[in-house]
Amino acid sequence: MDKLLIEGPAKLKGTVEVSAAKNATLPILAATLLFEDKIHFHALPELNDVATLIKLLQSLGVKVQRNSDNVSVDATHLDHQVADYQLVKTMRASVLVLGPLLARYHQAKVSLPGGCAIGARPVDIHLKGLEEMNAKIEIENGYILAKTDQLKGAKIVLSFPSVGATENLMMAAVLAKGETIIENAAQEPEIVDLANFLIFHGIKISGAGSSRINIQGQSGHLKAKQNNYKVIGDRIEAATYIIAALMTDSHVRVEGFEPFALESVLVNLEKMGAKLKRLDHGVEVFPSGRLKGIMIETAPFPGFPTDVQAQMMALMSIAEGNSVMTEHIFENRYMHVPELTRMGAKIQLKGSTALIEGVSHLSAAPVMCTDLRASAALVLAALSAKGTSDIQRIYHLDRGYENLAMKLKNLGAKIDRVKG
Ligand code: UD1
Repeated sequence: MDKLLIEGPAKLKGTVEVSAAKNATLPILAATLLFEDKIHFHALPELNDVATLIKLLQSLGVKVQRNSDNVSVDATHLDHQVADYQLVKTMRASVLVLGPLLARYHQAKVSLPGGCAIGARPVDIHLKGLEEMNAKIEIENGYILAKTDQLKGAKIVLSFPSVGATENLMMAAVLAKGETIIENAAQEPEIVDLANFLIFHGIKISGAGSSRINIQGQSGHLKAKQNNYKVIGDRIEAATYIIAALMTDSHVRVEGFEPFALESVLVNLEKMGAKLKRLDHGVEVFPSGRLKGIMIETAPFPGFPTDVQAQMMALMSIAEGNSVMTEHIFENRYMHVPELTRMGAKIQLKGSTALIEGVSHLSAAPVMCTDLRASAALVLAALSAKGTSDIQRIYHLDRGYENLAMKLKNLGAKIDRVKG
């Protein structure tokens, strides 16, 4: 199993380009199931989560050709509409095939994703929405069995703006009869990107990015209108590099994403004293000295993203004074805390709130990755800490960060990926 050796404290310098967003790529690949056509993409990120979704599509009979970041997906003919437990259990986003399969074939059998390291994560909001669109849903032997004569457009009010439910219902609505309106929809930039991908292929969708999305159902066989849709840059990856620069008091340009998509993160960093310049497609980070503590709560977009909570806590650990982080989206997303504590951070957990007393510096330690963003927090801590940190179980990082070690090395970090 590979591990990372990081020698800190690092001084970073230069420009880093973020990859296409994992959380936009996954629903867009699922949406190819709606099309009886071959669709070509270039510059898809080479990530394990993307490989898992491709494997799932192939298991359904989709023909996928992949040549590094060029991917062709042909869902003209499927063998069946069953998403197997073995594949779904490894990645919750696999449940995104449910909406498109049901809409196109009027039936689908998709394993329930089950719990994951960061929380129970049910799919009740996805299923309730599909039922309102005339689907019959049963749960049997750990699988969601969904059937319909024909999905029908509906006005669906989500009980919570779930990202995955909004995406599943948007995709299902594309082949439903009539108009679907999703109220209290998630507003994340990745939702807008899925909508833009569908609009690129002629589907009529409006309102994505607001809390009310309107989808006009299409009848007949969907054909791709063009190729090479460009997926948006990864704002979470960008936030990770911005925080890396701040934790090492460095001058770095992070490019390839839209800064408005990270506004809640940027504003909070500025309140802490960060010197940032918003570029057309990126952010320039200037050496800002030691930042000050702050209070932050995670929330659905445009609020502070839960996917940046762990990285932000690494930064809070070395900020001056106290900080408070409250996690509202997932119930068990503090697994980085014991590992950061091993590196000298002073963090106290009280339910969903973490109280962080800033220390002047962290110290290197052997640490263990537990989930994707927790792992990113450990990399950031190691970059700022004195000594060599040994970061194990980095397969979590490979799920969502393309060439992390190489990108940091190019910025001047002393980082090596070795067999461990
Ligand atoms: C997506 C992102 C993930 C991010 C999360 C929140 C992808 C592939 N993943 O995950 O990185 O952290 O959004 O921004 O895009 N919930 C229910 N019932 C449901 C659906 C969700 O109770 O039917 C709960 C979940 O358990 C969780 C919260 O709602 O506590 C947010 O979930 P959701 O927005 O659906 O996140 P995902 O789509 O799974």
